[in-house]
Amino acid sequence: MKVGLVQVFSCPEDAVRKLAAEVAELIRSRASQGFMTVLGLATGNTPLPFYRELIRLHREEGLSFETVATFNLDEYLGLDRDHPESYWTFMHRNLFDHLDVSPENIHLPSGRLRDEEIEAHCAAYERAIREAGGIDFQLLGIGRTGHIGFNEPGSSKSSRTRRIHLDPITREDAASSFGGLDHVPTHAITMGCGTILEARRIVLLAWGGHKAAIVKEAVEGTVNDQVSASFLQEHPNACFYLDRGAAEALD
Ligand code: F6R
Repeated sequence: MKVGLVQVFSCPEDAVRKLAAEVAELIRSRASQGFMTVLGLATGNTPLPFYRELIRLHREEGLSFETVATFNLDEYLGLDRDHPESYWTFMHRNLFDHLDVSPENIHLPSGRLRDEEIEAHCAAYERAIREAGGIDFQLLGIGRTGHIGFNEPGSSKSSRTRRIHLDPITREDAASSFGGLDHVPTHAITMGCGTILEARRIVLLAWGGHKAAIVKEAVEGTVNDQVSASFLQEHPNACFYLDRGAAEALD
């Protein structure tokens, strides 16, 4: 395993404290030089303690997000922005509504697209990331299929933002929050692996023993398109921040 690829913490709170301090320092130092900071963000249960820590830094330590632009990894297709399970709703409820980030600097793929609009929408998302100067810091979780974003098995290392068919395991994992499998969308828009890997710094978070097997494949397995998180092994500045549970299967 590459030196520095994995850091193990005794609990998620310790991991997110360290990570939020790194991101705060990045935002402050870029702001002092007159630059925006571009954050790539994830949804799901994993980033919640990280978002709580960012909100605390904003409230208690005056960390401003006025110089921050955000790009989320993905959005379910077929959901309006104000759907309770849309990632737009998730991000506003759990992060953006509590910070001073400008609404015009917040970007998520749209979940409401006609088939003929998808290609142009994805190309525009890629263009917006490029025009913002690229992603300075990318936050990731990992799905049971090994996905980062919604790059399900078979996604190539060079894939770009596009429509993806969600793996049955991913839909199963989302079933309880949607009130049953039948309500879980079948497709999503996701940044590609290639889009993600262009970020200058990447940290993947994983907590709990239920993530241990897939984390092991991503960290110690061969790099391959059946586990898109394994591509991080080849990134010059990517790291897995794990709690003890998620790290328990590692050699
Ligand atoms: C979410 C995303 C996904 C999740 C992954 C883990 O924007 O891109 O890759 O990070 O499915 O989800 P949780 O954190 O709920 O286990």
